[in-house]
Amino acid sequence: MKIAVLPGDGIGPEIVGQALRVVDRLRSDGLDLEIEQAPIGGAGYDEQGDPLPAATLDLAKSADAVLLGAVGGPRYDQLPRQARPEQGLLRIRKELGLFANLRPALVYKELSRASSLRAELVEDLDLMILRELTGDIYFGQPRGQRKTDSGEREGFDTMRYSESEIRRIAHVAFGIAGKRNRKLCSVDKANVLDTSILWREVVTEVGKEYPDVELTHMYVDNAAMQLVRAPKQFDVMLTGNMFGDILSDEASMLTGSIGMLPSASLDANKKGLYEPIHGSAPDIVGKNQANPLATILSVAMMLRYTFAMDEAAQRVENAVRTVLGQGLRTPDIFEAGTTRIGTTQMGDAVVAAL
Ligand code: IPM
Ligand code: MG
Repeated sequence: MKIAVLPGDGIGPEIVGQALRVVDRLRSDGLDLEIEQAPIGGAGYDEQGDPLPAATLDLAKSADAVLLGAVGGPRYDQLPRQARPEQGLLRIRKELGLFANLRPALVYKELSRASSLRAELVEDLDLMILRELTGDIYFGQPRGQRKTDSGEREGFDTMRYSESEIRRIAHVAFGIAGKRNRKLCSVDKANVLDTSILWREVVTEVGKEYPDVELTHMYVDNAAMQLVRAPKQFDVMLTGNMFGDILSDEASMLTGSIGMLPSASLDANKKGLYEPIHGSAPDIVGKNQANPLATILSVAMMLRYTFAMDEAAQRVENAVRTVLGQGLRTPDIFEAGTTRIGTTQMGDAVVAAL
């Protein structure tokens, strides 16, 4: 099995480096995984003038799974939209058909006090956000800037979802909820948007095929509020692309650190791209401060969802729990009474725990 490794920009290479040590350790225990690296994002632009070079896309297409670090950085902020690092990410999602984005927000016991909410509100929180990733206002046409009749500039984007796009992500959502606590909350803005009215209709129709999953609907503004009021009411949240972008950042903070959260983006055949949900963190690049756990946990998700190796996935997740239990913390999750360590030391600890 082949993994395409795309470290990207900023802290990407540092955290991916630690995740690859975990992969190496699993290989030495007999797991048959081949690895090949390629540039994406700003690194792709620097090396080949394209945030998603053709060779990188080819590699990603031929691999069984993709492990990605992060893209973006202040050096690229002035580039035109098509050359920006983020476009590399958006294009690879679209090209590989990765429409199902799983973003778990899991609160580890040891980190309950790191949350910005009171510990009792988040203790044992285990929430899954399922975000549609290849449609919506992110990709809808037409879009652009134009001059109005009165001569002023106007920017416009198109929010759209087809019935089949909603149907396929809804099936994934009900499937995931069925394996968890069988509660699915679909998020929309059906009190205002036509796209959302269709979304709610189609999700409700699909729900009839899953009578054992309890389906509820919530407007996105209320969902944003409920997430910080009482997050434990949720099991699985299903969202469109843009609402999921926003709510998953919000949910990440319930867990104390965005540096802990992995993600999976899957196609219809369980091929996946795995990445931490945080960004390239330009402020701490090269300082041995980045938390590699989200990337290491992304490897665990890869083992589970693409390679169906639940046991190996569990082993990696247990190793992460072990190092947290040992009180080892990168600066983002450090608190009094724990031991502050760097990126590579965190990698050392996870490999040792494995
Ligand atoms: C994310 C990011 C991306 C998105 C950006 C970098 C294009 O915020 O993965 O959530 O908006 O999808
Ligand atoms: Mg985002």
